[in-house]
Amino acid sequence: MSIAPKLLAVDNVTKVFTIGGGFHRVRLKAVEGASFALSGGQPEIFTLAGESGCGKTTLARMMLGLLEPTSGQVLYNEAPVQQLIKGGERGRFNKEVQAVFQNPFETFNPLRPVESYLLETSRNYGAKGKGNGTVRAAADEALQLVGIDYKDVEGKYPHEFSGGQLQRISIARALITGPKLILADEPVSMVDASLKMSVCNLFRVLKEERQVSVIYITHDLATAYYVSDRIAVMFRGNIVEMGPVNSVLVEPKHPYTQILRDSVPEPDPARKWRGRIKLSGFEERDFLRKGCKFSGRCPKALPICDEEMPPTVRLDGVLVRCHLYT
Ligand SMILES: Nc1ncnc2c1ncn2[C@@H]1O[C@H](COP(=O)(O)OP(=O)(O)OP(=O)(O)O)[C@@H](O)[C@H]1O
Ligand code: SF4
Ligand SMILES: [Mg+2]
Repeated sequence: MSIAPKLLAVDNVTKVFTIGGGFHRVRLKAVEGASFALSGGQPEIFTLAGESGCGKTTLARMMLGLLEPTSGQVLYNEAPVQQLIKGGERGRFNKEVQAVFQNPFETFNPLRPVESYLLETSRNYGAKGKGNGTVRAAADEALQLVGIDYKDVEGKYPHEFSGGQLQRISIARALITGPKLILADEPVSMVDASLKMSVCNLFRVLKEERQVSVIYITHDLATAYYVSDRIAVMFRGNIVEMGPVNSVLVEPKHPYTQILRDSVPEPDPARKWRGRIKLSGFEERDFLRKGCKFSGRCPKALPICDEEMPPTVRLDGVLVRCHLYT
């Protein structure tokens, strides 16, 4: 049996930022030793989840080649992304790997008709010809996939759309190139609740009908549970638990995942959130801990937790980084 090459592999990637100056200068590992891979054989929706500041966007920017890892590397189809984007393969990488960002109003210039972005992408990457009809047809086809008619965008500017509509248009734009991988960083956090699910459903359709893999970055565990095949939970730069979403979110092993899962808001807004962790104020201190980054607030901490970073172990098909299991 032949093994398909990895579509994307994140190989022991670390990113260090130096923050502050003088005596207050600290080296903050925004991402520390992250490793995972998406198979090239079978498309999947892989979620990176975790609360604000845990390193999701830093990791995403390294996957897109926008930021160079301090150590480790990201491979696309077995080739280092940093080489791809600096060499002759840059065009192919940009065509095959598309990004969708949190705020669609920042993706589109308010003074430029939305349609012009679609036509430009179509002309440069999507259409199989440069004629106006062919270019427009490729843009039209991508819009159809997100349930929007070309005539509804024609001549319109970004402010004439709702956040949800504009996010769908930015996904359509990404689809014009025929991508193999979409990296979506908080794509629904500014979208109203009724449209959240439709964007998530779109990712499923893309996976099932177009063989597109999606890396879905979110702090919203409810949509993550709904849409993903696998999930990696991050805390202060570290992947603390990773595996099939049904294992990780139904029976979380890591104390942080357990608390995070229990802090998902009840469907009934009248009920209070349970067990929400207070994160503000201690962020830097957590990042700089010698041992487990969660030891300062972990209800199950052992004496060793403060001293030593736990190794990652495999347990029932799930990778977990916690001394309770070593
Ligand atoms: N360019 C930078 N220089 C210095 N520190 C940075 C830089 N970018 C990110 N950081 C820090 O790295 C940590 C991780 O940030 P990152 O933006 O990756 O988190 P995130 O998980 O995407 O958060 P959010 O959910 O708020 O988007 C944070 O402490 C942040 O302040
Ligand atoms: S390693 Fe220790 S502090 Fe960290 S999550 Fe596990 S039990 Fe808690
Ligand atoms: Mg972010």
